[in-house]
Amino acid sequence: MYNELEGRVAIVTGASTGLGKAIAIRFGEEKMKVVVNYLNKEKEAKEVADLVKRAGGDAVAVQGDVSVEEDVDRLIQSAHEQFGALHVMMNNAGMQKEIPSHEMTLEQWNKVISVNLTGTFLGSTKAIAYMLEHKIKGSVINMSSVHEVVPWPHFVHYASSKGGMKMLSQTLALEYAGKGIRVNNIGPGAINTPINEEKFANEQDRNEVLSMIPMKEIGEPDQVASVAAFLASDQASYVTGTTLFVDGGMTLYPSFQAGKG
Ligand code: BGC
Repeated sequence: MYNELEGRVAIVTGASTGLGKAIAIRFGEEKMKVVVNYLNKEKEAKEVADLVKRAGGDAVAVQGDVSVEEDVDRLIQSAHEQFGALHVMMNNAGMQKEIPSHEMTLEQWNKVISVNLTGTFLGSTKAIAYMLEHKIKGSVINMSSVHEVVPWPHFVHYASSKGGMKMLSQTLALEYAGKGIRVNNIGPGAINTPINEEKFANEQDRNEVLSMIPMKEIGEPDQVASVAAFLASDQASYVTGTTLFVDGGMTLYPSFQAGKG
């Protein structure tokens, strides 16, 4: 636990399920006040808000599409109106869909880029504008992926969005470092979340994924949430412009594990 987080205000986008849900609940355990954003799973988001409260924090569920400018404005406004501040912006919402690149339509490409990359741009820059206006030395955390650095066939839109997020976060980190605003990415590998449910239920697919993880374990959402809490906290006060990979070693060229080069 990070005592200084008590009472601080966070927005977590895409918080009705998966990593966003785990992070919102962890922020609740830190006694933070959380705007639990969702796109269309209202019931689930309200349940997450209840879990945040039960964990010791405060929460409100707010609908919004992160790729729509007015919706992101509304999220920031909700944090301000409900809780009077914004200290932590957790841009978590994202999507992925397997499509061979030569069959990918412009519409399919645009959809993923607009949610993952443009959504992160909107969330980050609007949070920073709020923090500057209110003189808050806040923390912006963006949910990237191992695919920020690992190419991924059939997911060219997704991998491109995550590669873009690396430069987006580093540029913002550099631009606002002098104002005390930190911007970092989390880069998860294969984690037990609904986005991966089907893949991990299939034994062959699961084993294939495990063979790419040196630690030979699928990650749990809690293991990502604890990194989000760290990056939000003052314990990370000198950390900016970096990506913390949470991947059991997936980014370490796993095929070299046996030592043959
Ligand atoms: C994706 C997962 C995938 C993992 C490792 C993540 O960004 O969301 O579906 O298992 O990367 O490839």
